[in-house]
Amino acid sequence: MKALLLSEYKRLAVADMPEPVPGPGDVLVQVAACGICGSDVHGYDGSSGRRIPPVVMGHEAAGVVAGVGSDVRGFAKGDRVTFDSTVYCGVCDFCRRGEMNLCDNRQVVGVSCNEFRRAGAFAEYVTVPERIVYALPPGLKFAEAAMLEAVSVALHAVAVSEVSGGETALVIGAGMIGLLVLQAARAAGCSRVFVADIDATRLKLAKNLGADETVLASGEDLIREVSRLPGERGMDLVLEAVGRDETVNAAIDCVRKGGTVTLVGNIAPKVSLPLQKVVTRQIRLQGSCASAGEYPQAMELISNGKIKVEPLITAVAPLSDGPEWFARLYAREPNLMKIVLDPREGAK
Ligand SMILES: NC(=O)c1ccc[n+]([C@@H]2O[C@H](COP(=O)([O-])OP(=O)(O)OC[C@H]3O[C@@H](n4cnc5c(N)ncnc54)[C@H](O)[C@@H]3O)[C@@H](O)[C@H]2O)c1
Ligand SMILES: [Zn+2]
Ligand SMILES: [Zn+2]
Repeated sequence: MKALLLSEYKRLAVADMPEPVPGPGDVLVQVAACGICGSDVHGYDGSSGRRIPPVVMGHEAAGVVAGVGSDVRGFAKGDRVTFDSTVYCGVCDFCRRGEMNLCDNRQVVGVSCNEFRRAGAFAEYVTVPERIVYALPPGLKFAEAAMLEAVSVALHAVAVSEVSGGETALVIGAGMIGLLVLQAARAAGCSRVFVADIDATRLKLAKNLGADETVLASGEDLIREVSRLPGERGMDLVLEAVGRDETVNAAIDCVRKGGTVTLVGNIAPKVSLPLQKVVTRQIRLQGSCASAGEYPQAMELISNGKIKVEPLITAVAPLSDGPEWFARLYAREPNLMKIVLDPREGAK
């Protein structure tokens, strides 16, 4: 089969590789769409240490079942499916509590690090355990399904924020994750959702996707702008989707007393914490990692149009264009959002 192989850092090419054979509990998927994730781009040059070559990356995928292992009961050849990017064990204490994102034996599709290696979906075929596979609803396109992982991340961030409806929310960062968090906060019943970024084109998208107001500012300027929003005494909820010192600190300054700051962004390994502000204003800092069972909800919200993913897909391209798209993403070419690769023969 054809696969996009990272043979050494920054060296990506289509290669002929053996087709994977499903184990007894595995599903063999013929990949029809696989999104390039920011984490793939960060892995590509070795900076994250999570894509040690040789590796086939790709974990945001959908396709058609091409074969099943002897123990698989829930899927059959020809089914349209997607799968979780997290390969959880299903038996540890966390998995049993439904916190599969915290699984003690967690692996990720298309990741190779010191603890494990797993072939990913920038390939014609990939095998994954049956427990992480979901059937796709009939109307959902493969390229849209490649967005499910990111949508699930956004839904999880809102879920751990415990929104009950009517809250005001500020999303800091209007990248792929922030724009989905915006829509997830809306879908969860936040009464007003504001979005901040330093990139005006991203904020235009935020407006089109339902932001009540957008703020083109960061750091101190952002805090000042937010304090000027009519009728606001601080946000009930701030969702941080950048992950830098200044944006985390702005998040803490923009939330109301007793409010919640949910931390999704994680670009910087460390940030400073204004301890006394957090303690005396009794702010809840809540981390959010990946997703834990949000895939079905994500499929429903895309299908019923409450979450729009098409405006976030920049291009759908054949696997052979993968190296060029990686280079463009790596060079931080402006205005690129999600690139989806289609490994099927004859894909254009
Ligand atoms: N917790 C999780 O499970 C999870 C999952 C996926 C991604 N992430 C993290 O979420 C973050 C966002 O990911 P993404 O894919 O949306 O990235 P992205 O690059 O698409 O978006 C980042 C956005 O932040 C904006 N930005 C940068 N500096 C800023 C500043 N100082 N003030 C305001 N805005 C600023 C950029 O203009 C951009 O729009 C990253 O840190 C990523 O690692 C976390
Ligand atoms: Zn991803
Ligand atoms: Zn587990």
